[in-house]
Amino acid sequence: MLELVNTIRLQLRFLVPLVLTLVAAAYLALPLMDRLTLRWFSRDLDLRGTLLANALSDSISDALTNEGGAHLQALLNRAVQDERLVAIGLCSLDGHLLHRTAGYPTTLTCSAARQTAARSDPLLKIEGGSVHVGVYPANEESGRIADLVLLHDMSFIERRSQDTREYLIILIAALGVTIAMITVVVAQLSWRGWVSGARALLRGEGLLRPMLTPTPELAPLAADLRSRLRELDDEYRRMLGPEAEWTPDQLRSLLRTQLRGDEIIVVSNREPYIHEAAAGGVVVRRPASGLVTAIEPVMRACSGTWIAHGSGSADRQVVDGRDHVSAPPGRGEYTLRRIWLTEQEEQGYYYGFSNEGLWPLCHVAHVRPVFRELDWMAYREVNQRFADVVVSEARSDDPVVMVQDYHFALLPAMIRKRLPGATILSFWHIPWPNPESFSICPWRREILQGMLGSTILGFHTPFHCKNFIETVDRNLEARIEHEHSTISFRDEDTLVESYPISIEWPSAIETATWPSIEQCRRNVIQRLGLAADHKIAVGIDRLDYTKGVLERMQAVERLLAQHPEWIGRFVLVQAAAPSRSVLLEYRSFQRQVRHLAERINRRYGSASYRPIHLLMEHHEREAVNELYRAADVCLVTSLHDGMNVVCKEFVAARDDQRGVLVLSRFAGAAREMTEALIVNPYHVEECAAAIQRALTMPEPEQRERMASLRMTVREFNVYRWAGRMLTDAGRLRLRQRIEARVQRHHIA
Ligand code: F6P
Repeated sequence: MLELVNTIRLQLRFLVPLVLTLVAAAYLALPLMDRLTLRWFSRDLDLRGTLLANALSDSISDALTNEGGAHLQALLNRAVQDERLVAIGLCSLDGHLLHRTAGYPTTLTCSAARQTAARSDPLLKIEGGSVHVGVYPANEESGRIADLVLLHDMSFIERRSQDTREYLIILIAALGVTIAMITVVVAQLSWRGWVSGARALLRGEGLLRPMLTPTPELAPLAADLRSRLRELDDEYRRMLGPEAEWTPDQLRSLLRTQLRGDEIIVVSNREPYIHEAAAGGVVVRRPASGLVTAIEPVMRACSGTWIAHGSGSADRQVVDGRDHVSAPPGRGEYTLRRIWLTEQEEQGYYYGFSNEGLWPLCHVAHVRPVFRELDWMAYREVNQRFADVVVSEARSDDPVVMVQDYHFALLPAMIRKRLPGATILSFWHIPWPNPESFSICPWRREILQGMLGSTILGFHTPFHCKNFIETVDRNLEARIEHEHSTISFRDEDTLVESYPISIEWPSAIETATWPSIEQCRRNVIQRLGLAADHKIAVGIDRLDYTKGVLERMQAVERLLAQHPEWIGRFVLVQAAAPSRSVLLEYRSFQRQVRHLAERINRRYGSASYRPIHLLMEHHEREAVNELYRAADVCLVTSLHDGMNVVCKEFVAARDDQRGVLVLSRFAGAAREMTEALIVNPYHVEECAAAIQRALTMPEPEQRERMASLRMTVREFNVYRWAGRMLTDAGRLRLRQRIEARVQRHHIA
């Protein structure tokens, strides 16, 4: 329809001027034509008149000298019988009318006839129509003896002229119609041609011959067209916001529809709220944990029960008789069930096997894993204790249990044994190594078997899924269906799928409570004693050797060496929450970080300036958000990371669309956040160059990159992550129920 309207509009652009031109041509041509025809006929008549006068000259001469008037009159009367000749008059040289035939007007004197004949339009109106007046000399040898006045009938000429006019009009009209038709067809073809040509260009083909190889001359045009269209499309999409932004309501409705309101149980080692005994009473702390950041909003949307290790010094004080406490504190949207571990259990299961064994095993950070038999035993026992608690908390025999992370590799199979109808969604928040690396684990088969108790096993990236499937292939007798990404082990199927985790996108209500960017900047500058014009880079991490904190500081040192203009004008604010400090590896790492910061500060600092501000303490959410908003650059330089949600939090905090993200290519997030400056954190020069580029990046480019990053994180938020897993779970549960019914029919 639109195409038709466009074609008609295009055609009218041609047709209207065409019609106007043809009408103007006809208007001008017709009188011209009339004058031309008259001139041609006058010339004809003059020739005829001269001929007649010559033919009659002898007779006239005879009649005038021999008084042969009657004979001459008869001759004139006979001559006038020519159908085109109306009348003839004979004038003497002194202007007397000597003879005239019938029909010659009595009023037409010889001098009047001569005057009329001398005009350019020698026409005269007489009774019976208009006539052409011509005066022709009759000569004898001695010279002119009289003038012959011939009156020719003009009606015949007018008829001819009328005919010519009609033919001309018909010709112009026919010409007009033909041109119009050609125009219409050409316009139609041109429009289609242009449209398909433009489409062909956009597809990367030639304009005129879309099926053949693209012409190189059109390449710049095609590229321009494509890039402009893409820009317009980007602007439009940004304006619209995400197509299908997942919200808590959507997740809740998914639970009602796909999972028919089934109960959700989450199991993780780290609890979402830690109650600590402080001088003024009990305080609540949020741990620095990507897992908690991601799962907590999902739990708030789903309600249900979250089972976790109660690690806070005042945790026991606030739980009820069943070790339950409602969360979030004061809002009570879900139940937190705490499990207490002895120091020995915690040492063996958490610090030992999980963090000295599995953590370095899965992260390629070149820290050697330590496997101890005692740790493994503790790990098994604690997994069993959590499995028992899951069973005791389950109100039905087929709950949806979401098992989180590497602390619980054995838990899925343990739950499956006790609750065969449960749908177990396990998510491995850290990378999965290649089969060779994993093979050094003495209990690799037990771990894989435990994980294959899951209905769905999720990783952040397809690469981690691939590594896991290959590891199973090497170590277990299992059937792998690569096409469906499923592993069948001992008659149980596990879907291995990638679900990139994310954060909760801040609501408008929440962002309205945030201090302005300028205020955040002022607060940070004042608190850290910075100068107002300092460029600020931030790093927000747990103090973990996988986070690339040392490499980041080395990059800052290199930046200051290569660009001394930044000395006194640039700072790195590194918020580093102490983590797993019981472990020697972590304590030594903390020392290294402190020493390096001090060395750089000694080298480039002064009494009033420190390039590195190392804040080795836990920061609450609001304080972290303030740092994000105050920063010019955010540095995420993990040596290896499952996803890393710090980069997503930074992007979510920058509603001013400013600030630059420098992101390690070894973080799972680098796959999605391609508009960040992607770096290899092991390459100090490359990182220094990226920081320099970030510090000097023009604002429009910052905005362009940030707007796109924000759109990605907003669209692929944590509700989508959970929603995708739960949708898959709903589908598998439905299939399970149908299979069970089919089985029953068979038995019956
Ligand atoms: O994101 C990976 C992760 O290991 C989470 O499982 C964990 O909550 C977080 O890092 C922090 O570690 P931890 O709980 O040992 O302090």
